[in-house]
Amino acid sequence: MAGSNYYHNKSALIIGGSEGIGLAIAVGLVARGADVVIASRSKDKLAEALTALKRCCGEGQRVASVVMDVRDAMQVQQQIDRVVAEYGAPDLLINCAGVAYPGYIESLEGDRYREMMEINYLGAVHTVKAVVPHMMRRRSGQILNVSSIAGFLGLFGYTGYCASKFAVIGFSEALCRELAPYGIKVSVLCPPNTRTPGLQRENQYKPAEVLATEEKVKVLEPEEVAQAALAALARGRFMIIPSFDGKLAYYLGRYLPGVLGLFLRRPTLK
Ligand SMILES: NC(=O)c1ccc[n+]([C@@H]2O[C@H](COP(=O)([O-])OP(=O)(O)OC[C@H]3O[C@@H](n4cnc5c(N)ncnc54)[C@H](OP(=O)(O)O)[C@@H]3O)[C@@H](O)[C@H]2O)c1
Repeated sequence: MAGSNYYHNKSALIIGGSEGIGLAIAVGLVARGADVVIASRSKDKLAEALTALKRCCGEGQRVASVVMDVRDAMQVQQQIDRVVAEYGAPDLLINCAGVAYPGYIESLEGDRYREMMEINYLGAVHTVKAVVPHMMRRRSGQILNVSSIAGFLGLFGYTGYCASKFAVIGFSEALCRELAPYGIKVSVLCPPNTRTPGLQRENQYKPAEVLATEEKVKVLEPEEVAQAALAALARGRFMIIPSFDGKLAYYLGRYLPGVLGLFLRRPTLK
């Protein structure tokens, strides 16, 4: 299993760990011998996820959950202080909480733009600010922020989501430089479409053009994304893109942006 030894006896705090990609990463970490605390808003989802995690636990391994809404900086601080008091400072902080509302600029409500910024971007800022002082004192730690392919490509129908995920990459890149002297590594994960409850909800909002272009796009399983993320994290990679198409788009965008632009024009409906 990729990264098995690396994660053995490490501790991880996974924000947005109750379902989807966050839960798959939690399962992957527990299977590799890590202690894991998952966090999200819903007690019921956390309880169900915890039952699944306990089934993969070995002897002496600890799994726990904590309720928090990442939009509330004070609640995040209080809950992370509780986690640190009970389990110690985590070796790994994984920011996976996120929401996606696609939609045309003229019809997507302003509140949705705010919600995506508050959860996807500021949510990560809040948890990082609460955890980093502990990692700094210990002079070690690792942070994984989850962005998206939409964090480096301006995609049709995704003005609000792209802005929030571009912000996550910018934040992570600056943070990486700032925390390196303290021995703290920062990575950013950019998954493509992945079969999760979140993607199911997102599909309800997609404009017709987006649905038409996605007919042929491969959807990854959350376990594939988790596997790629954990393998790359163990190698200390900054930018983690789990799909071939995603990697191709990333490098085209950097070195041949004109060519990439041709593929990203407004999709046509048949
Ligand atoms: N699935 C994809 O196709 C895809 C592609 C690229 C990037 N991503 C990104 O990957 C991450 C995970 O996506 P996913 O598809 O696995 O999502 P998901 O299935 O909807 O899971 C999202 C997780 O975040 C938690 N969460 C949401 N809002 C929260 C808040 N305000 N405070 C605390 N926790 C919150 C949810 O639990 P509660 O509802 O209980 O709070 C849940 O545990 C997101 O950042 C998403 O943008 C997903």
